[in-house]
Amino acid sequence: MKAEEPIAEIIAQLFPAKDQMILGDTFRLLKTFEDQKFDLVITSPPYNVGKEYETKQSIEKYLEQQEDVIEELIRVTSDQGSICWQVGNYVDKGEVFPLDIFYYQIFKKHGLKLRNRIIWHFGHGLHASNRFSGRYETILWFTKTNDYIFNLDDVRVPAKYPGKRHFKGPRKGELSGNPKGKNPADIWEIVIHDWEKELWDIPNVKSNHPEKTEHPCQYPVELVERCILALTNEGSWVLDPYAGVGSTMLASIKNNRNAIGIEKEKRYLDIAEQRVKDLKEGRLKLRPINKPIHTPKATDKIAKIPDEWQEGPLFGENGKN
Ligand SMILES: C[S@@+](CC[C@H](N)C(=O)[O-])C[C@H]1O[C@@H](n2cnc3c(N)ncnc32)[C@H](O)[C@@H]1O
Repeated sequence: MKAEEPIAEIIAQLFPAKDQMILGDTFRLLKTFEDQKFDLVITSPPYNVGKEYETKQSIEKYLEQQEDVIEELIRVTSDQGSICWQVGNYVDKGEVFPLDIFYYQIFKKHGLKLRNRIIWHFGHGLHASNRFSGRYETILWFTKTNDYIFNLDDVRVPAKYPGKRHFKGPRKGELSGNPKGKNPADIWEIVIHDWEKELWDIPNVKSNHPEKTEHPCQYPVELVERCILALTNEGSWVLDPYAGVGSTMLASIKNNRNAIGIEKEKRYLDIAEQRVKDLKEGRLKLRPINKPIHTPKATDKIAKIPDEWQEGPLFGENGKN
């Protein structure tokens, strides 16, 4: 027995899930995976917007290539499995193309069934000047069949009014809610940009989101975690075909799921592997799932109308407020 084995054993007991990040091209590597291996494929694919890891091309060409990948993803998804496709907009010369509209048609054409179009809303981001500022992206949740894993009780959230009772009918006077919490519904408010400069001035809020790395469009672990808990069981296999810095891997390992991530950029893969290591060794800072989003109190300096605006159109005598 090697000297390090006892420690490895302890880690394996604490985190029994298997995980592997693979360096390479998604389409090529998918070909090597067996049919129906994964109960969940979850990812945020490249959006074709010219990020540092992609070459922008026509939307038609981009979608054609993505369809080849999607066919393979469907093949490796189990019959009780799901595909969650997290996308925003492709923008060309100021014109917006909502990618989920295009992707919906591809998945539908290949026989998948949409269960939810989840709106992931975040409060901060870039301010647009020629259109309204974008503050949401979507997750298309598809299943392969009608017999799919869905563990609602594992993702319930605290009810806003737990003391609410039926006020008429045969159950009058009884509590109307579920003691396990309520269904989180299909609009999720999850912080992406705690680290953005708008928040830097708010007292008592960390200037950095605990998960931020150098990746330009990393998604929060909390976002993936809800899908993993609801759509897979302990021991299920999860695949992220565009794994970036490994957010899906972390959410999977943390919840005793097995995970494979594919990423073509070595620098992101290295960060992902370091994050996984840090998680296993108890060093990684993650924003806890369902942690309420900080809202400043009316008395906080940041929430007060500044003196310079007191007489302006919104707040002055003729204003609406
Ligand atoms: C939107 S990011 C995903 C970020 C990830 N969700 C996270 O939280 O870190 C898309 C990722 O796909 C990778 N990628 C793009 N094309 C790829 C390809 N053909 N094969 C493998 N990875 C690719 C990019 O390098 C990038 O890291």
